[in-house]
Amino acid sequence: MSSTISYIKENRSRYIEELNEYLRIPSVSAENEHKADMYRAAKFTVQKLKDAGMTTAKIFDTNGHPIVFAEIKVSASKPTILFYGHYDVQPAGDLKLWNTKPFEPTVIGDKLFARGATDDKGQLFVHIKSVEALMKTVGELPLNVKYLIEGEEEIGSENLDVFINKNKDLLKCDAVVISDTSLYAPGVPTLTYGLRGLCYMEIEVTGPNRDLHSGTYGGAVANPVNVLDDMISKLHDKKGKITIDNFYDDVIKLTKAERENFKKLKFSEKAYAKEIGVAELAGEEGYTTLERQWARPTLDCNGINGGYTGEGAKTIIPSKASAKISMRLVPNQDPKKIEKLFTKYIKQLAPKSVKVSVTSLHGGYPVVTPIDSKATLVASKAMEKAFKKKIVYMKEGGSIPVVATFAKELKAPTVLMGLGLDSENLHSPNEHFSLTHFMLGIESSVYFLEEFGK
Ligand code: BES
Ligand code: MN
Ligand code: MN
Repeated sequence: MSSTISYIKENRSRYIEELNEYLRIPSVSAENEHKADMYRAAKFTVQKLKDAGMTTAKIFDTNGHPIVFAEIKVSASKPTILFYGHYDVQPAGDLKLWNTKPFEPTVIGDKLFARGATDDKGQLFVHIKSVEALMKTVGELPLNVKYLIEGEEEIGSENLDVFINKNKDLLKCDAVVISDTSLYAPGVPTLTYGLRGLCYMEIEVTGPNRDLHSGTYGGAVANPVNVLDDMISKLHDKKGKITIDNFYDDVIKLTKAERENFKKLKFSEKAYAKEIGVAELAGEEGYTTLERQWARPTLDCNGINGGYTGEGAKTIIPSKASAKISMRLVPNQDPKKIEKLFTKYIKQLAPKSVKVSVTSLHGGYPVVTPIDSKATLVASKAMEKAFKKKIVYMKEGGSIPVVATFAKELKAPTVLMGLGLDSENLHSPNEHFSLTHFMLGIESSVYFLEEFGK
C-alpha cells in the first residue's frame, strides 16, 4: 500500500471530526435567516483548502451567497483538474421526522447522519482530503488543481453562472470532477454520464377577493383549490404522458443500445418499491423504471397550498390557491422553451372565473457527459482500483445545473464521480452518508489525481 493510502486510513477519525464541524454549520441557502451561516461555511471551506496546501483559497462575494475558489499551480506543462461542489444544503424540514438533530452530526454504525452529509459536504470533502493526503505524504501534486465550491446549488446556481462567465481564464481546466451524485448500489463504483434538466414553475390561482362562507357562497363561485386541482390533473393523460402542447418536440428518443445498457443493470422493481414504501410503481406507459427516471421528461407537483389546513374544520371557499410544479427535462429540451409552453398551456386551461398567474422559479439544462474522455477513463480505473469492482455507467434523474455551463463556457468534460446513494435521504429527513464510501472516495480521488497527472 502506498504511503498516501496508509495516511488516509490512519486519519479516518480526524476526517470525520472535521467533516462534522462542517456539517454543524446550518448553511441552508434557501432561508434568509442563515445568511451568516452561509458565510461561515464558505470561510470554513477556505480554511480547509488552505490546510490542504492550496496556495490560493478565497471567497468571491456575489449578489447571493459567496463562492469559494482555490488553486495550486504545479506546472504549466501539467494538466489541470477543477473540482466542483456545493456547501449549501437543503432546509432540514420537519424536525420531528429526524431521529437525530440535522445539524448535530451523529455516527451510527457506518452512517454519518446530518443535513448535507451526502449532499454535498461529505462528498466534496473527499476531494479536499485526497489533495491534503498527497501534499502531506508526497509533498507535491502530480498536476494543477482548482476548486470551485458554491453556496447556491440548491437554489439554481444563478450567481455561479455569472461568475463562470466572467472568470473563464481563472477556471480554465482540462476536466471537471464532481462528486454530487449516487453510486448505482452500495460498494459499486459508478460514473454518471447524464443528468436531467429542470424547469420549476409556480401557479397562483385567485378567486373571490376574500375567503367566503362555504355555505352561503358554495355553488355560486369557482373555488380556487378545486380549479387548481383540476388544472393539475389535466397535465397528464391516462398513459402518464404530459399533455402540454409541443412538450416532447425536442426530446431525443432512447436508442436501442441505451435501452439494452439500462437493461443490463440489475434492477429490481420490487426491492425499489419496498425501499420507498409503495405497493406499486407508476409512470409513463411503455418505459421501464430506469428509463422513466433517467431518459424521459417528467412533471410533478412539489407542493400545494390553499384554504384551511389547520385544526378541525373551518367552512370556507378559499380566496387563493397555489402550487409549485417541477418538470425534469432530457436532451435536447430547453428549460426556457418549456417555461413558455407550460405558461401558455396553463393559461389555456384556466377558466374565466379565476385569475391565474404563472411564474418561473429556476431551471437548468439537461446534460450528457462524454464517456470516452481521458478524464472518464482515468476516473473509471481509479474507482475500480479503490472499490475493487468493475465500474458501472448510469444516468441520473436529478439535476446539477452548472454541469451544462461547464460544457458550454469552459469547454471541458465533466466526470460525475458520485459517492452517495439514492437511499441516503438527500433532501429528506435523516440524510446520511456511508463512511465506507467516504473513505473509498478519498482513495479513488488520490488514484485519479496520480494517474491524470501522468
Ligand atoms: N446532488 C443533487 C443532484 C442529485 C440528486 C444527484 C439525486 C443524485 C441524486 C443536487 O444537489 C440537487 O439536489 N439538485 C437539484 C437542482 C435544483 C435545485 C436546481 C435537483 O435536482 O433538484
Ligand atoms: Mn448536491
Ligand atoms: Mn441537493
